[in-house]
Amino acid sequence: MTASDAELLDRARAAAHSAYAPYSGFPVGAALLLEDGRIVTGCNVENASYGLTICAERTAAGRMIVERESGPPGERPHIVAAAVVGLKAAPCHPCGACRQVLGEFSCDRVIVEGSSGDPVSIAFTELLPHAFGPDSL
Ligand code: THU
Repeated sequence: MTASDAELLDRARAAAHSAYAPYSGFPVGAALLLEDGRIVTGCNVENASYGLTICAERTAAGRMIVERESGPPGERPHIVAAAVVGLKAAPCHPCGACRQVLGEFSCDRVIVEGSSGDPVSIAFTELLPHAFGPDSL
């Protein structure tokens, strides 16, 4: 059975507890729901050279690629939904770089926490209109 939006937020929140965020003190977790029902999670991984920080969504996207069944190198997984939780702020919307990376995998929608912790679903096209993606080339 496919995970509910609330379950995806729970998985993202759990992943945020693994965050390595000594500089910002702003732990973030992401949970990607894939077409086959699998959920891949990630957390932010910061660096003393601040700009090298990897956001939770991009950590999860990298893990999604590593963990997929081996196939043609150009085969593109499809992200059905991406849940994002920041332990210090709700809602925690994906940053611009992460929107671009989620868009690479034709993410349909993003789920964030509303102010009362309830799931808020946002169509990806609303987050990143006129996106440059694989079909733009
Ligand atoms: N962060 C994420 O993990 N995802 C986002 O989409 C926004 C920002 C992280 C990066 C950094 O470690 C911390 O939040 C503060 O910017």
